[in-house]
Amino acid sequence: MVNVAVLGYGTVGSGVVEVLNINKEIIKRNVGEEIKVKYVLDLREFEGDPVQEILVHDYDVILKDKDVKIIAEAMGGVEPAYTFTKNALLAGKSVCTSNKELVAKHGAELLEIAKKNNANYFFEASVGGGIPIIRPLNNCITADEVTGISGILNGTTNYILTEMSEKGAAFEEVLKDAQDKGYAERNPEADVEGHDACRKIAILTSLVTGSQVDFEDIYTEGITKITEKDFKYAKAMKASIKLLGISKKIDGKFYSLVAPFLVKHKNPLYSVRGVFNGILVHGNMVDDVMFYGRGAGKSPTASAVVSDVVDAAKNLGKHIPVEWNEKKYDLGKISELKSRFFVRMKDKGLDDDLMPAIIEAFGDVLCIRAEGVHDELAFITDEIREDEFKEHIAKFEDVYSVIRVDF
Ligand code: NDP
Ligand code: HSE
Repeated sequence: MVNVAVLGYGTVGSGVVEVLNINKEIIKRNVGEEIKVKYVLDLREFEGDPVQEILVHDYDVILKDKDVKIIAEAMGGVEPAYTFTKNALLAGKSVCTSNKELVAKHGAELLEIAKKNNANYFFEASVGGGIPIIRPLNNCITADEVTGISGILNGTTNYILTEMSEKGAAFEEVLKDAQDKGYAERNPEADVEGHDACRKIAILTSLVTGSQVDFEDIYTEGITKITEKDFKYAKAMKASIKLLGISKKIDGKFYSLVAPFLVKHKNPLYSVRGVFNGILVHGNMVDDVMFYGRGAGKSPTASAVVSDVVDAAKNLGKHIPVEWNEKKYDLGKISELKSRFFVRMKDKGLDDDLMPAIIEAFGDVLCIRAEGVHDELAFITDEIREDEFKEHIAKFEDVYSVIRVDF
C-alpha cells in the first residue's frame, strides 16, 4: 500500500480524494498496489464529510510521517505551497501538483531538489486541466525540435468567450457562472487578465527550451476589452475570438505572448468551445500535434493529478528526469514580432475620410463589414512588426478595438 496526503480540500483536492475512491480498483491495477489517502490538510473543518476523520491542520504531521510517500498539492498560491513542497521533496517524498503559479515560479528549483532526493515533482495538471500535455512533451515528442506552441490554455476565459459569442451573454454573468462551476482562480483576475494562461505558456516554453522562461517577461493581454461588436465582426469573417498563449521559434529564438486572437475556421483551435482547451504543438519532424480536453474543473483536473500520483507510486525512490534548469531563457522581444491586426475605429464620414491616412500608415488593408454595425471603419492589416503597428495606430483617435489575427 502507498500512503498519500492531499494538501487543500477545495475543488481540485476534493476531486483527488474522489478520483482515488471511485477508481480505486483501476488505480490499484495500474500501480500494482493500493493507494490510500492517509491525510487531508486544510484550514477548514468539513463536518459531515468522511474526510473529517483524516483531516489535519498541521502540515508537520504529514511531513514527519515516514509512511507518507506522495503528496498531492492542491492548495494554490506560492506560499506556503512552496515551503511545504520543498520540505516534502527534501524528505524524499514525491509531490504532484495542479499549482501552476508555483510551478511557473519555482519549477526548475523544485525539480532539482526532487532529483537530489530521489523523488519526483510532477505537474501534469498545471497546464490544460485534464489534458495530458506535460508528459507528452517530456516523454513523447522527444525526437523533434519543437518550433511552436499555440494554445487555448484557460478554461474560464474560453467559457466566457464562447458564451458571449454564441448566446450574447454578459461578461460578468458568465464569469460568475465559471466561478460557480469551479473553473476560475481564487482571484479571477488571473483568468480574465491572461496571467494564468501566461504562467501556462511559460511552463510549456520552459519545458521546450529546457531553461527558465520567466512569466514576467511574457507580453500578456486579457479578454476584458472584447465586446459584442467584436464578435459580430468575427462572425462576418467566419472566425472566433480566442485567448491564445503562443510561443514560436523564429531564427533560433522563442517569442511568447498571450492575447486574444481572431482565429479562422480552418485553424483547429477555432472549434475549441466552452471550458475545453486545445494545444497545438509543432515539431520539425512530427508536424502539428493537437491536444484537446477539459481545461478546468474538479474531476478532469483531479484525474491529471492522480495520473501523476500513479506515476510517482510506480517510481518510488527513483527520480524521473525532466529537462528544465534554472538558467534564464532570454525570450525574443515582442516589439520585433510580426502580426496581422484587426482594427476598429470611428468612421468620421466623408468630411474627414480616414482611408488615405490608414493606407499611408498600414499600406493596403482588408476592409471588413459586420451586419448591424454602423459608423465604424474596420480593417485587417498585412503582417507588420508590433513596434511599427504601435507607432502608427497611436496617430489615430477613437480606436475602439485592436485584436491580433491568427489565420
Ligand atoms: P480552491 O480554492 O477550491 O481550493 C484550495 C483549498 O486549499 C481550499 O480548501 C483552501 O482552504 C485550502 N488551503 C489554502 N491554503 C491552505 C493552507 N495554508 N493550508 C491548508 N489548506 C489551505 O482552489 P482549486 O482547488 O480550484 O485550485 C487549487 C490549485 O489548483 C490552484 O493552484 C489552481 O490554480 C489549480 N488548478 C485549479 C483548477 C480548477 O479547475 N479549479 C484546474 C487546474 C489547476 P480555504 O478555502 O479555507 O482557504
Ligand atoms: N482557472 C483555470 C482555468 C483553472 O480556467 O483554466 C485551470 O488551470
